[in-house]
Amino acid sequence: MIRLGIVQFGPLLGKVKANIEMVNNLILSSPECDIYILPELANSGYRFKNKEEALKYSEEINDSEFLNALMSIANDRGAHIITGFCERAENKLYNSSVLIGPMGIMGSYRKLHLFMDEKDIFEPGDKGLPVFDTPVGKIGMLVCFDWMFPEAWRVLALKGAQIIAHPSNLVLPYCQSVIPSYALVNKCYIATANRIGKERDLHFTGQSVLASPKGELLLKGSEKQSMVLHETIDLSLTNDKYITPRNHLLDDRRTDVYGDLMMSEDD
Ligand code: ACM
Repeated sequence: MIRLGIVQFGPLLGKVKANIEMVNNLILSSPECDIYILPELANSGYRFKNKEEALKYSEEINDSEFLNALMSIANDRGAHIITGFCERAENKLYNSSVLIGPMGIMGSYRKLHLFMDEKDIFEPGDKGLPVFDTPVGKIGMLVCFDWMFPEAWRVLALKGAQIIAHPSNLVLPYCQSVIPSYALVNKCYIATANRIGKERDLHFTGQSVLASPKGELLLKGSEKQSMVLHETIDLSLTNDKYITPRNHLLDDRRTDVYGDLMMSEDD
């Protein structure tokens, strides 16, 4: 059993120190969790005017004030943290998610499906769909609008993900109600950590969700308040992919008809 926490808050555009302080205060004032999941672009905010502004507020994974602060929390608490991250690498920008363990950075993912004006700012992800084997479960990551693509969830399930962490800055009204269905059809836990608040012309919808492998909605956050939502989860529930004694979610796929998504993956 592990304790999972979703840190819902409203990152401030370009204010990395304030964002660190908000995350710190929320985590320190909530019950201890084994794993915390933060929203998309939690270091930088979301609604950049243009690429120049995004570059200014971006950080490199190995030289980030924001990630250093999270590493210190993870180390103090013996916890794992997944956070959305505005990543700069060789003057390119990626809308990334970073996995931090008590001993430091364990890996990252770069958003594959860019939403609206993100296409003018970020490069599409080029790191595939990794799953990380950690002491708190096998963890895959998707970022916000990736949710619209069932193939991405399925590839992570095929690679053994028990928890799919989903840092988000949702603006459309659909995602939160769909997450329990994705959790059911892949029999895994999904944690959508969504932000709150308004930035320039965009309103973010909050209501972060945690869904179980049985398709249950275990947690739902408020629309407007910062909070840490937390729940104890049983990872063993993700290992049995039978939905009836004669129906296996992965083995019963008709890959002869619609192909095997794993064919395009490296491993
Ligand atoms: C989104 O992908 N941030 C909507």
